[in-house]
Formats: sequence, C-alpha cells, structure tokens
Amino acid sequence: MNLLTYNPKEEFAQKHMLKLSDYTPDEIMQVLSLALNLKTQKEKGYPAPLLGGKILAMIFTKSSTRTRVSFEAGIYQLGGTAQFLSSNDIQLGRGEPISDTAKVLSRMVDGIMIRTFAQSDVEGLAEHGSIPVINGLTDLLHPCQILADLLTYYENVGSFDGKMAYIGDGNNVANSLLIGCAQVGLDVTIACPKGFEPDADILATAQKIAANTGATITITQDPKEAVSGATAVYTDVWASMGQESDAKQKHAHFTDYQVNSELMALADKDAIFLHCLPAHRGEEVTSDVIDGDQSVVFDEAENRLHAQKAVMVLLMKD
Ligand code: CP
Ligand code: NVA
Repeated sequence: MNLLTYNPKEEFAQKHMLKLSDYTPDEIMQVLSLALNLKTQKEKGYPAPLLGGKILAMIFTKSSTRTRVSFEAGIYQLGGTAQFLSSNDIQLGRGEPISDTAKVLSRMVDGIMIRTFAQSDVEGLAEHGSIPVINGLTDLLHPCQILADLLTYYENVGSFDGKMAYIGDGNNVANSLLIGCAQVGLDVTIACPKGFEPDADILATAQKIAANTGATITITQDPKEAVSGATAVYTDVWASMGQESDAKQKHAHFTDYQVNSELMALADKDAIFLHCLPAHRGEEVTSDVIDGDQSVVFDEAENRLHAQKAVMVLLMKD
C-alpha cells in the first residue's frame, strides 16, 4: 500500500473530528494520504490555499504548544486564519453554556478546534453548532495526535506492518492509539500498571475494529513482553494535565514502566521511539532514549501540522 497514492474506497462522509472511532478505516487512510501529500507539496513550496478566507476558532482550557502552533500555522498555510480563545478570556470560562458558545461561533467562523477536559463538551459543540468541530485533546482522547503518530510510523517503517508498543499510563493518548492502530491494521500492545488500563469501552471498540482489519490488540502489565518484537515504542507522561495534584502518588505505580535503553534493547533493533510530548526526562523516558538515534519525536511533532491540515481540508473545504 502506497499512502501517497491511496485510492479511496468510499466517499469521505465525516463532518467533525471528535474521535477516531467515528471514522472508517478508509476515511483514516484518506486523512493520512492527504497529510502526506500536503507535506510533500509543502516541501516543494506552499500548496494551494485550499482554505482561503476560512476562520478556525481555537478554544483552549488546557495548555498547549504543539496543538496550538500546528493548527494556527496550518490554517495560515492553507490561506485561512485562526483565533486563539483561552477559556479564561471568553465567557465559556464564566459559565456560558457550550450550546450557546457553539451557536454563536457557528454564526461567525468556519470551524472550531477545542482542547478541554470533558469529551462531552467537544461533542456538545458539534451537537449544538453547525460547523466542523475538531478535538484537540480531552481527558479521554487525543485523536489528532494519533493521526500524526501513524503518519510518522508509516514514514519510518514504510507500511503499517509491525507492532506498536505503548508503555505507561492508559490515558487519552493510549485510548486513541488503540483505535488508530486497530483502524490501520497495526498490531498494538499496551503495557500499563494494574488500575491504569485504557478505557474499557474504547478497548472493546478497538477490538471490534481490529477483528475486521486484522490488527491484534494486547493489554499487559509487562513492559518487556510489550516491547518484544516491537517496531515502535511509545510512551507519554505518567500524570496528564489536570492530574498534577496526584502526580507523586501516581508515579509510585509507574517506576517499572520507564522507557530506557535496557527496555529499548528488547525491541527490534531498528525500532523507533515515539512520544507525543511534552516529555518528562528521567520519569517516563530517559534522556538517552528520547535524545538518541531511534527517537523520531520531533518528526512526530512536525507531523501534527501535516495531519491536522489534512483534517481541516477534509472538514472545512467548500
Ligand atoms: N502533544 C501535544 O498535544 O502537545 P501540546 O500539549 O503542546 O499541544
Ligand atoms: N496525556 C497527556 C498528553 C499531552 C499532550 C495529557 O493529557 O496531559
């Protein structure tokens, strides 16, 4: 399968990017293929202004470097513009309902990207508004991150063969990774401490998708088992945004889940190392791994730009 020349099997029918599991495997491939094409065009000079004149409102109730910069730079590169709306500065932060916010923004802009706590707020914007809504991270999911990760995996491995091993907290990134890997047919193993497993409903959804795409999904408490034969090793912070106050207590459960050179040595010798960033060196990953030859974390960060440009074009283009 050549992602650059991927031939869609279905019409792209999505209105939003709320969660990856709303998409068919074919639609995920369409996003990834367009992302790779936009990336290639950008390397040759800026692509056509496919979103000329379009405005993206970006609501943030949590911090961000990559998500904010990649969406803002991405829409500028496509000929549009973005508005950064910190929830502290808009009326949403003072209790204006999501439904009213959705209706107002729908009268003024062409799309909404939101990073917040509750997945239900993202879905509420989509339900009450009339413009595309893109999930820029919730406590439950991080779909745009995983699109960038799959693109990075494909660029390095050349296919979706192999095995993704995720070591650490069964958080928003792990949840979306399960779905994304299942959709592209990539085997995935998650190693997490007891009590920190991915969401059970999401796991069940991923297993259903995997039954059709041929991916295998494994959840274990053993990081060594997870990385054995892995072509990619992925980790994320042990305490996500919003969990800072429990961080110390939580860390005690994760000491055996650090990605270090001993663990990397048990993966394929050419395995790549992935991290959504920001990273805490010395906690979930050692400096020698994240700053070493197998790490592709900055390519992965760059791919946020290309993946999200594809999402915006597919959802917002006239
Ligand atoms: N990976 C990611 O979403 O980074 P930011 O929190 O900086 O947006
Ligand atoms: N799991 C992390 C991802 C940050 C991009 C968090 O939610 O804070």
